[in-house]
Amino acid sequence: MIELRDFVVSDAVSLVSWVDGPAELVMWSGATGFTWPLDERQVLRYAAGAHDRMRVWTAVDRDDPGKPLAHASMMLDAPGWTARLGRVLVAPGARGCGVGEALVGAVQRVAFDEMGVHRVSLGVFTHNATAVRLYERLGFVREGTLREVATANGVWWSSFEMSILADEWRSRPAS
Ligand SMILES: CC(C)(COP(=O)(O)OP(=O)(O)OC[C@H]1O[C@@H](n2cnc3c(N)ncnc32)[C@H](O)[C@@H]1OP(=O)(O)O)[C@@H](O)C(=O)NCCC(=O)NCCS
Repeated sequence: MIELRDFVVSDAVSLVSWVDGPAELVMWSGATGFTWPLDERQVLRYAAGAHDRMRVWTAVDRDDPGKPLAHASMMLDAPGWTARLGRVLVAPGARGCGVGEALVGAVQRVAFDEMGVHRVSLGVFTHNATAVRLYERLGFVREGTLREVATANGVWWSSFEMSILADEWRSRPAS
């Protein structure tokens, strides 16, 4: 069972080790200011920006809470109407067994049940098929395409804007 806890300084080592190249850095963080090579200083500066409306999480297995498995962050707008999910990352060794789905599902519960937001949105690169399928499984719908918003290895990448509304989340089929 995956649970979210607030990011702590010692999580920076794991997070840095999960991003293993410049293209992976862009895939994870888009154009949000991280530069390759990623280091703990950049991660700690970002995580230090956490506050009431900017949550930065580490996901752990409840039975093994000392071992970080994944990361995500979420930014709320000022009135608390909408939240933006970002920086979703699962430890490479933990991928393909449901951690990503459990992570994003946990974020949806916090956003809709605890924070009471009306909408959660995100951006995902169009060629990140695993991530797009994951978000669609969890009820996010595509709203449009932002053309060539980021570049890696000399290629421009486009992204999908996706969102899910509170009513859609509440009426999701039981899993
Ligand atoms: C995208 C990402 C978050 C997905 O995380 P994940 O933990 O692998 O996600 P899941 O395990 O829930 O789903 C991945 C696949 O494993 C499959 N899977 C899940 N549990 C499984 C199981 N027990 N047995 C077999 N397959 C399983 C899912 O069906 C899914 O298959 P699909 O790709 O064919 O749709 C992860 O690959 C990652 O961190 N990528 C790099 C960063 C990134 O792209 N972040 C997203 C930015 S928007």
